[in-house]
Amino acid sequence: MNLKGRDFLKLLDYTPDEIAYLVDLAADFKKKKKAGILTDKLKGKNVALIFEKTSTRTRCSFEVAAHDLGMGSTYLDPSGSQIGKKESIADTARVLSSMYDGIEYRGFEQSIVEELAEYSDVPVWNGLTNEFHPTQMLADLLTIKEHFGHFDGIKLTYMGDSRYNMANSLMVTCAKMGMHFTACASRDYFPDPELVDTCEEICKTTGGSVRLTEDAMEGTRDVDVIYTDVWVSMGEPDEVWKERIEKLSPYQVNKKIMDNAGEGAIFMHCLPAFHDMKTKIGAEMGKKFGRTEMEVTDEVFESPASLVFQEAENRMHTIKAVMAATLGYED
Ligand code: CP
Ligand code: NVA
Repeated sequence: MNLKGRDFLKLLDYTPDEIAYLVDLAADFKKKKKAGILTDKLKGKNVALIFEKTSTRTRCSFEVAAHDLGMGSTYLDPSGSQIGKKESIADTARVLSSMYDGIEYRGFEQSIVEELAEYSDVPVWNGLTNEFHPTQMLADLLTIKEHFGHFDGIKLTYMGDSRYNMANSLMVTCAKMGMHFTACASRDYFPDPELVDTCEEICKTTGGSVRLTEDAMEGTRDVDVIYTDVWVSMGEPDEVWKERIEKLSPYQVNKKIMDNAGEGAIFMHCLPAFHDMKTKIGAEMGKKFGRTEMEVTDEVFESPASLVFQEAENRMHTIKAVMAATLGYED
C-alpha cells in the first residue's frame, strides 16, 4: 500500500482497503509505542499545524505523533497567524508548503481545507471541518477493531445532530467498512440527503447500510455501538442551545438507551462531552436550562461500556499512521 504524497481530507477519498491499512498501521505504531520501540524515521521533516478552532486531542495527537516520528512541528493558533485575515488560503498553502513537509488544518468549511490542498505541494490533513472529521474516524475504527475484532456487520447508531461533521463522517465510515449506520434524531437534524445517497451507493459494494429514524428506541435496539457528540459544535452561536436542548433531549444517551442496545454494546464519543456540570459552558447552559447533563448522562459516560478514553488515546496512534503513510515512512 503506497499512500505517499496523498492528502487526507475526508474518508470518501479513500478505499476500504486503504482505510483498513491505516488502522492496522496505527495498531502497529501503538504496539511499538507501548514496547518503547522508537519510530523516529522521519527526522529532518517538519509539519505545520493550523488551528482556526480550539482543540485538545487533535492538537496534542499531531504534536506528540510528529515528535515520535522524529519531526518538528509548528502550532498556528486561531488568532496568531495571517490566515484568512490578511492572507488567502491559496497564498498560505504556497508559503507553508515551501517550508514544511505536511500541513494539518482545523477550521470551518470543508472547501477551505480542499483549497489548501489544491495549492499545496505537500500532504494536507483535515483536523476537523464543519462537514468532516476524518482523523477521528480512524481512531474510532481502531477502537472498534480492538473491541470487536472486526468492522463487518457492526451496527452503529449516532444519536443527536446528524447534519454535522461527526454524523457525516460516521455515515461515510460505516458505508466504506460494511457497517450498519443509523442516525437517530428529529427529522430536521437528519443528514444531507445527497450525502445519504452517496453512502447508500457505497453500501451496495460493501454490504453496509444507512438508516434514519426519529424513534430513539427503534434506532438503538440491539446495536453494537451507541455514539453521540455535543449538541452545539464549535463555531455555532450560544443562541442555538435552547432549540438543541428541546429537539435533541429525546436522543440523550442514558441507561435506558444502553439497556435497549445489544448485549455488550459500547458507548463512544469523540469528546469533549457535557456529561456533568464540571465545565464552564456545561455549567452555564445547565443552569440556564435546568439540566445537569446534556448529550450523555454521567452514569453512561463513567460506565464500563464507555470506551471514550481508549478512543481518545487512539487519536494519537492513528494520526501518527496518517502522517507516516502520506510522508513515506518506511519500517
Ligand atoms: N475529538 C476531538 O477532535 O477533540 P479536540 O477538539 O480536543 O481536538
Ligand atoms: N461536532 C463537534 C466535534 C468536536 C470534536 C464540533 O465540531 O465541535
